[in-house]
Amino acid sequence: MPQVTLNNGVEMPLLGFGVFQIPPEDTERAVTEALAAGYRSIDTAAAYQNEEAVGRALARSGIPREELFVTTKLWIQDAGEEKAKRALETSLGKLGLDRLDLCLIHQPYGDYYGTWRSLEAGYRQDTVRAIGVSNFHPDRLTDLITHNDVVPAVDQVETHPYFQRIGDEEAMRKRGVRMEAWSPLAQGRHGLLQDPVLTEVAQAHGKSVAQVVLRWLMQREVVAVVKSTKPERMRENLAVFDFELTDGEMTRIAALDGTSGPGFDHRDADSVDFINSMQLT
Ligand SMILES: NC(=O)c1ccc[n+]([C@@H]2O[C@H](COP(=O)([O-])OP(=O)(O)OC[C@H]3O[C@@H](n4cnc5c(N)ncnc54)[C@H](OP(=O)(O)O)[C@@H]3O)[C@@H](O)[C@H]2O)c1
Repeated sequence: MPQVTLNNGVEMPLLGFGVFQIPPEDTERAVTEALAAGYRSIDTAAAYQNEEAVGRALARSGIPREELFVTTKLWIQDAGEEKAKRALETSLGKLGLDRLDLCLIHQPYGDYYGTWRSLEAGYRQDTVRAIGVSNFHPDRLTDLITHNDVVPAVDQVETHPYFQRIGDEEAMRKRGVRMEAWSPLAQGRHGLLQDPVLTEVAQAHGKSVAQVVLRWLMQREVVAVVKSTKPERMRENLAVFDFELTDGEMTRIAALDGTSGPGFDHRDADSVDFINSMQLT
């Protein structure tokens, strides 16, 4: 598995396995199968409410800790310096780990400056190897950078061929922040997996559309986390390092940008209200 080097020298697998919307009772099995398929980077979040099941699968796997890359995210209701400190300890406890590889602020809402100071403390104490953000547009990202000490290693955002965020990626890259894709397959929405251009490219390589989409991200060195509950799809999504898209194919895929907007608009007031109202129990 190719790795990328984050802005603090930490190595992160280019492709990982995400567990969003996998029910807690199914997560231990899914992560166990993902690890068996070869994934070593696992992406969870306090909000997914399946950290304990992820932790059980990691512990049962017998895979040495240093071969795993574990990411979690802190939720909005835990925003602020003190609350985030406790939330980080809670996540570590649920995951059964004494150190995280990456911890992200899940949403750019609430007192995320306080949360960031807490993550900076965790980073200095080596409880977290790298810290970052998620769903931050470049304006909020650059302001966070300006007013704090540690530059986020990663900004995990929604991106796929229909919503490419080329400008956002440039802004991140310029500031040393690695873009990480969530919903790289657009959750199968917008007809992305039936797209005629992607289908043609996939057929030319004897690959699936999902594989072409993930390969396109890998060639751009955008880290991605992809989810499946099915072992055959887990393996399919990992088999993207044995072929290469040509420059012409990359250009054709680039032209698909804008076919859809975001699945979730972090700047839409009603969407912000909705997400701020989500309380973890
Ligand atoms: N930071 C954030 O706010 C945020 C938000 C969303 C997601 N994420 C992270 O990103 C990860 C991935 O995003 P996502 O789960 O939203 O969406 P995704 O990975 O783009 O798509 C997952 C969907 O595609 C299907 N699928 C997977 N592989 C496939 C294949 N080879 N062929 C056809 N269909 C396939 C899955 O169905 P089956 O399960 O039935 O295979 C599932 O319905 C999440 O799990 C989470 O870790 C982060």
